[in-house]
Amino acid sequence: MIKIKDIPDYEGKEVTIQTWVQLIRKQGKKLAFLSLFDGTASVQAILRRQELGDEVFEKLDLISRGASVTVTGVINKDIRAPSGFEMKVSNFEIIHPSDENYSKEVTPDSSVDVKLNKRHIVFRGPKTSSILKFQSHVLKYLREYFYSKDLEEVIPPLIVKAQAEGGSELFEVKYYDKKAYLTQSSQLYLETAIFSLRDVFCILPSFRAEKSRTPRHLSEYRHIETEHAFMDFEGLIEFLEGMISHVIDRVIENDGEILKMWDKELKPLKTPIARITYDDAVKLLKDEYDIEIPFGTDISDAPERKLIEHFGEPVILHNFPKHMKPFYHKIDLDNPEVTRSADFLFPEAGELIGAGERETDIESMRERMAKMDPPLNEEEYYWYMDLRKYGSVPHSGFGMGLERFVMYLLGVEHIRDVTLFPRTVTRLSP
Ligand code: 4AD
Repeated sequence: MIKIKDIPDYEGKEVTIQTWVQLIRKQGKKLAFLSLFDGTASVQAILRRQELGDEVFEKLDLISRGASVTVTGVINKDIRAPSGFEMKVSNFEIIHPSDENYSKEVTPDSSVDVKLNKRHIVFRGPKTSSILKFQSHVLKYLREYFYSKDLEEVIPPLIVKAQAEGGSELFEVKYYDKKAYLTQSSQLYLETAIFSLRDVFCILPSFRAEKSRTPRHLSEYRHIETEHAFMDFEGLIEFLEGMISHVIDRVIENDGEILKMWDKELKPLKTPIARITYDDAVKLLKDEYDIEIPFGTDISDAPERKLIEHFGEPVILHNFPKHMKPFYHKIDLDNPEVTRSADFLFPEAGELIGAGERETDIESMRERMAKMDPPLNEEEYYWYMDLRKYGSVPHSGFGMGLERFVMYLLGVEHIRDVTLFPRTVTRLSP
């Protein structure tokens, strides 16, 4: 028994595969073609009545698209076939038939809603499957990079008592007789872990009660986060440029077929990535595009796109005014109005990464927590404040949405298309 991806190693030999039927094409009563996809790759199989005999050939009448089958046959090179090979079938058996409605469940013309309702069927096809495979590869490349830099993986809790990123986007959960939240970011817990492991990462879901219905927002997304002891802002930017370069290089090296399927020509990252301060970005948007951003407010989706368009490549937006960013961002000692924080803006993804050096001055943190609306209760953060009492060190970290990274790498425009089962304001099923 082999997997379809290994077929090129078996040219001229007879093999057996277990797979699903993607397509059945009969030509008259004596010849049929099956497109087979087993989750690793696709191959076309040729069935001839003359070679199989009536009994086996007629089993074809009992199957339709989606059926699972065991197929035995000889592998031949065929330059016309998309995989470069075809299988001349000598026997096949039905594992489980498929209801004939399978083909009607979802078609290329189905509405977005139907496609999402039937997501479990949509990703049984090679193209959507390739996204899931690609995501798995990207996770592997990220972990490779993290381990090569001596980071350890930790798993902080997802049910939390205190917010990390702002109250309006919190999902509240009933926790026995208390109120708790689903985590928005594992950052604060990762910061605790550097005192134990020095450099750490986690890859876990984060939850945002996002009202914004944009092609880049999910209510639950996969969050790649790291935290590094004894690392300043510049060290972090360098780490991140290395990380993105590593993943892009590995994708170019290994995932050419998937890039081709998505019509994406991925180029190595140009480093250093272009940078612009928040102040300069606001000025540029006004002067060049007549887009008015009231100073100190968020640069939203559309102007963010303008900035990316303007640079024609990824750009790091940095030095945000301190009141725009959460209390944990370090104040720039050369310019106390701004923080040592950055957003990485990337084509397709928009804001791909939120990064920064962490505040270590406990008084500055207290002041900013008190100014938040509503003010943050220091007692709930006693464990986080303790980090600043006992041997604090300069440290930095970032968060990146895995789905947005995949959007950028494959050039996909909507986040729902790169997500196994998207969760949004209007979608909780399947
Ligand atoms: O910029 P954010 O909110 O930063 C944090 O949560 C930090 N505490 C992370 C850290 O430093 N450890 O989110 C980080 C990234 C964004 O840049 C974006 O890629 C992704 O998380 N993200 C979302 N992805 C999909 N849907 C959403 N609703 C997202 N919100 C943020």
